[in-house]
Order: sequence, then structure tokens, then C-alpha cells
Amino acid sequence: MGIGNSLDQNLLDLNWNQVCQKYCLDEIYGVCLPAAPSLEKNTKYKPWRDICERLPELNKKKSIRSAIAGLEDISTDDIKDTKDQIAAVSMLLLMTNSYLFCDMENIPTEIPSHLAKPLHELTRQLKVKNSLGYVQLLYNWRIVNPKEPISLDNIDLRYSFTGLDDEKYFFMVSTCTDLLLAPMIRELIEAIQNASRNNNNLLLNNLTKVVELWKSVHAIMPEIHNRVDPQAFYNIVRPYIGGYHDTSMFPCGVKFGGVSPPSCCSRAEGGSTGNDPLYHIFEKALQITYKSPTGVAEAYKTGFIEPHQKLVADIESTSTIRDYIKETKDAELIRVYNELIDGYILFHTIHWTYIQRFILDNVPHIPKQMIKGQGNTPVTFLENKSKLLEESKIVLDSS
Ligand code: HEM
Repeated sequence: MGIGNSLDQNLLDLNWNQVCQKYCLDEIYGVCLPAAPSLEKNTKYKPWRDICERLPELNKKKSIRSAIAGLEDISTDDIKDTKDQIAAVSMLLLMTNSYLFCDMENIPTEIPSHLAKPLHELTRQLKVKNSLGYVQLLYNWRIVNPKEPISLDNIDLRYSFTGLDDEKYFFMVSTCTDLLLAPMIRELIEAIQNASRNNNNLLLNNLTKVVELWKSVHAIMPEIHNRVDPQAFYNIVRPYIGGYHDTSMFPCGVKFGGVSPPSCCSRAEGGSTGNDPLYHIFEKALQITYKSPTGVAEAYKTGFIEPHQKLVADIESTSTIRDYIKETKDAELIRVYNELIDGYILFHTIHWTYIQRFILDNVPHIPKQMIKGQGNTPVTFLENKSKLLEESKIVLDSS
């Protein structure tokens, strides 16, 4: 079966190459697409690259706004490839958030047209929200030594707001998680296929491999505590991943200069790993359901590029893994399924320690019920997520 006809085919019939082609995944790195060399080499975009490379210095001196004012309009008509579009949006968002948040005492409410117009156009083409989200991370990483395996010490940010290790490791722990879990996507899709074909042995094999992948993630997660300083994170790094949804900071949202209609304003959430499709792929494949606060799930999806939205939707409508395992009552399958939920709970339990130390401890005077993430999720939802996940375990009736 050739790749050419994979676009119309059901997920159950696709091999891995076809899945990657259809849903814009990298065969090795999954949703975390590696750099798009064509945009890197194109001299037309050199002015953007030059600014992105100097962001730490320009942000520190608060001279980023004048550097951006000196840019000229660059038409993005020639950027047709999805990976190139993501790469360009990533650069534009790094510049935009630097422009807005380099000086928190004096935040502009309009994005200049030479950033706003290409950002508006490319995010419209990609069908993603026009504020910082996972799209920035999808592209903003690089391998240090391609001959060595992926590890926290062998990846780095491409462009940085601050140049601080506190920023680097905050982002790189989640990027490294994505890279370590990238093989999970293939295992889960094959698991969906094997469940539909009643193939218990292969299904067990797929799910056992996913359990092991999560263990490698648990092992790197404590590194945030070792490598990121909570105050540097809260006061210096976090402001740069803000959005334009806060009504006290942006009573009328943010105006996109030069974009028609002229009143075009945006009120979008900021950066959140909730926008990372990988976690949604996992939850939908395992048919994990729980009640989330109104709007959160929808807001998360606006950060996925369209092929990733489609992948999550197709997995949701196709997977019968949980139903199948319940129905077979196979003790080994139930054990491994519940072990996967336990692994995901452990991920959330460690993640909650981040929220406590890097956010709540910085604002002890504010009740946690009033605190939301940059993506607008109430932190108390994340505190309770482990309990919600417990309910997804498969418990057979004793009758
Ligand atoms: C200093 C470190 C971190 C802090 C303070 C932090 C805090 C937060 C907050 C406040 C949210 C809610 C965001 C929103 O408003 O939508 C969130 C969501 C999330 N974060 Fe983190 N995070 C950190 C690092 C990480 C890392 C390293 C990972 C991945 C390895 C990660 C994975 C996630 C995921 C998957 C969500 C969505 C969770 C859900 O809605 O169930 N975070 N984080």
C-alpha cells in the first residue's frame, strides 16, 4: 500500500510511515518536529533569525522593542510546508512575547504589523491560536550531538528569551519527555489496531513497552528541581510565556497591527504543556475520561496544529483498548493497563510538586483556589488530577 492514498484511510489500516505522513509526525521524534532546514537557510528570514539569536541580550536591555521596530515587512507567501510554517510561527511568537513582556511595568497592547501580519496569516493557515503555545516548543529545540542518544544533556533550546539555564531546563525537561515518549505514539496506534483484531499477545506487548517509556520519563522529571531555581523561574522566565487573556493586563486584548479588520484583537491563553498533543494521544488511546473545568479541553486543542488535532480526534473515535480489555477480563492485560494509569498518576504527582514549589511557594498570600496557569487552567484541577485518574483503572466486578 503506497503512502499516496493514506490520507483517506482509517487509522486501523495505516502503517507507521502512513501515520507519520497523514498526521505530520516525525518518524523518530513524534510530535516534536526537528528543525526545518529550508527556513533556516533562507536569507529572506535572516532578520528574524538575527533578532531571535540576540533575544537574551535584547530582552535584558529592554531594547527588543526598538530592534523589532527596525524590522521590515517580510511576506511569508513562499512558506507552504507545515514544518516551515511552524518554524516561522515559533520565531514570531518568541519575538512577540519578548516585545510584550520584556518590561512588565509598561506592556504595549498592540503588536507591530511586521510581526502581527505574518503571525496572523501563518497561524490562520495552521489553524492554531495566535499566542504562545506548544507550537513554539515543537520547533524550538535542537540536538547537541547527533551521534549521542537523546538525553537532557544532549538537547538544547534553539532560541531563548533569557539565556538562563532556568529557562533551558524548564523547557527541555518537557521536550525531553516528548522525545522519550515519541515511540509511545506508534505503540499506542498499534495497540488500538491489535485490540480491534483481538490480538491479546501483541496488545500486551505494546502496552508493556509504553509502561517502560513512562518509567524513563519519571527518571528525568526530578531534574527540574535540581536545575531550575524557583524564583528565577517565577520572576524572570514565566512572564515570557504569558498570553493575552488577563483582563487586568489587557482590558481590550492585544491588537494585531496592520491586520484587517483593523480592530482585529486577540485574547488568547499563554504557553501550556496542556497544548502538547502527546498527552491527549495517550489519554484518548487508553479511553481515559474525567471531568475537566469548562473550556480547558477546548482551549488546549487550539494549540495543536490541524494534523495533530485530527490525530487526537481519530484516536478518540477509533480506540477500544479499555473496553476491549474490560471485556476480555484478561488478568495480564488488566494488570498492564492499570500499571499505565499508575505511571500517568505518578507523572501528575511529580508535576504537582513543580506547581507547589515553582508557583504556589512564590505567592503564599494568594489562595490556591484563585491561581490559574498561563493556559488558564485552575491549579486545583491539576492537584486533583491524580484522584480523577484513579477512577480510570479497570476494576472487575467480583460478582
Ligand atoms: C517549573 C515547572 C513547571 C510548572 C510550574 C508547571 C506548571 C503547570 C501549570 C500551572 C499548568 C496548567 C497550565 C494551564 O494553565 O493550562 C501545567 C500544565 C501541564 N504541564 Fe506543567 N509545569 C511545569 C513543568 C512541566 C513539565 C516539565 C512537563 C512535562 C514533562 C509539564 C507537563 C504539563 C502538562 C501535561 C500539563 C497539562 C496537564 C493537564 O491539564 O492535565 N509541565 N503545568
